[in-house]
Amino acid sequence: MKRNLLIIGILCVMFASCQNKTQTNESAQQNQDNQVVNTIMERRSIRKYKPQAVERDKMDLILKCGINAPNGQNKQSWEVRIVDNPELLNAMKEAMAKGHPDLSAEMVKGCFRNAPTMVFIARDPAYDFSAYDCGLLAENMVLSAWSMGIGSICLGSPVRFLTDNAECHPLLEKLGFSEGYELSLCVGFGYPDESPAAKPRDWDKVKYID
Ligand SMILES: Cc1cc2nc3c(=O)[nH]c(=O)nc-3n(C[C@H](O)[C@H](O)[C@H](O)COP(=O)(O)O)c2cc1C
Repeated sequence: MKRNLLIIGILCVMFASCQNKTQTNESAQQNQDNQVVNTIMERRSIRKYKPQAVERDKMDLILKCGINAPNGQNKQSWEVRIVDNPELLNAMKEAMAKGHPDLSAEMVKGCFRNAPTMVFIARDPAYDFSAYDCGLLAENMVLSAWSMGIGSICLGSPVRFLTDNAECHPLLEKLGFSEGYELSLCVGFGYPDESPAAKPRDWDKVKYID
């Protein structure tokens, strides 16, 4: 009798663990089929692009995804400008290099990573959370672009190169941001001409607290 109970107990444990495994496999399978998760996990920053600019109808969709990002109090404390005119992009590169004679011109001119479509995002400094709003807007754009086969790169260095010298001021004015708005982030878009490997992330930075 005791032996039979023991066998039943063992079978119950085996059955439960089997069920658990099936559930885990099922949820893993569901995640594999999840397009949003796949896009997030497969996205990479792209620093080599094919020359053609992203078609404007595709950019429109990417921009709509951007402005549909969560944002504080729905203040939409951003303004967005898109430049896909190579002459204007080159003028910006020249001006940035001229404004930074202390740095290698090649390095400064390369700060757009040769993305053929550049998006300039400005924030309203009157709102404390506007930098987060801009970051979330950028992330929505980057992810929607990737899901459409379009690569991107978030860029902080051109923010500095464009804003800290007089040489670039006329070009910044040409972007026509509202009075008081500050350039916060640049994002380059284009068709990838490289397939970089994933950069490692540190899972130790994440902890559940019980
Ligand atoms: C706010 C911000 C600023 C960045 N600035 C630059 C930059 O100036 N130049 C550059 O090549 N990459 C820049 N990056 C891209 C990061 O280097 C990149 O996201 C990071 O190395 C992780 O790689 P991954 O995007 O491929 O996962 C920036 C990213 C962010 C979010």
